[in-house]
Amino acid sequence: IRDNHLKAIEELSDLKSLEDLRVKLLGKKGPITQALRGMKDLSAEERPAFGQFANQVRDQLQSKLENRRDQLKQAALNRQLVQEKIDVTLPGTPVAQGQPHVIQQIIDQLEDLFIGLGYQILTGPEVEEDRYNFEMMNLPKDHPARDMQDTFYITNEILMRTQTSPMQARAMETHDFSQGPLKMISPGVVYRRDTDDPTHSHQFHQVEGLVIDKHITMADLKGTLQLVAHELFGDRFDVRLRPSYFPFTEPSVEADITCFNCGGKGCAVCKYTGWIEVLGAGMVHPNVLKMAGVDPEVYGGFAFGMGPDRFAMLKYGVDDIRNFYLNDERFLTQFSKKG
Ligand code: PHE
Repeated sequence: IRDNHLKAIEELSDLKSLEDLRVKLLGKKGPITQALRGMKDLSAEERPAFGQFANQVRDQLQSKLENRRDQLKQAALNRQLVQEKIDVTLPGTPVAQGQPHVIQQIIDQLEDLFIGLGYQILTGPEVEEDRYNFEMMNLPKDHPARDMQDTFYITNEILMRTQTSPMQARAMETHDFSQGPLKMISPGVVYRRDTDDPTHSHQFHQVEGLVIDKHITMADLKGTLQLVAHELFGDRFDVRLRPSYFPFTEPSVEADITCFNCGGKGCAVCKYTGWIEVLGAGMVHPNVLKMAGVDPEVYGGFAFGMGPDRFAMLKYGVDDIRNFYLNDERFLTQFSKKG
């Protein structure tokens, strides 16, 4: 039994048959167990020698089995290591990476600029109360200037915000002026009941800006807008302010920037003025301050509302705003920073 099986174990080539053989040899019905059981029929003189021998055979077989099992396991591991060897010099498979949307890239750039100037970034609800979107912005019910912004109403009092300006009121209400001036920008999506066309989208982006402190002047506003123009477009871009009207600022201005197309010389794009209108701004109206709990005798400041969609159109020569909202990968990947 011993010699035959020692040889058989040596020839086993897989772990499964090894286990089968182990059970067969050393199990309850195996020859060793049987032999040890048969000992009761032997004479007292024969028993010790036989028992010793049988135990010895069992131990030999057992350790042989264990050895062989270790060898087989090692061999399997070696095979696996060879099969799974990787060639680290092979060129990698490129992974398609996402990227921020082009509008978000502009917003990120603006946020970086304004954080550097000590502003906070605030965000607020797109589903807004009439009170914040209009009333606290000095646009009472029935004010004719409400017509400037066609509105999606949800109920009489709840609407999709038409501008990020309600964030002015929300920021002033919560700001603790004993801790210093209020300086914030608030990027976000706004909604208007417009029919989509190349220059209108019923949803678009705004970045509101607000600074409230003592002794803020229009020169601060103009200097800030100039910085934005230089940061986003380059140093050769200039800003000019034109009188305008918004109910929540007085005086109100529209800011123009040097025409992208002709560099200020005058062309059809800028209607031969050399300037392109980019945003609305002004000095915060005393009524707006008052309604938000800020004393207009002590504090004042400026506000602006920028349109990142418009910035992106100008910067990249996009002629249809709807492209930004169609999620066409061919369009969007053109603005990948890696090119
Ligand atoms: N909220 C104005 C708009 O949507 C823009 C604006 C913001 C104007 C702040 C002045 C001050 O047209």
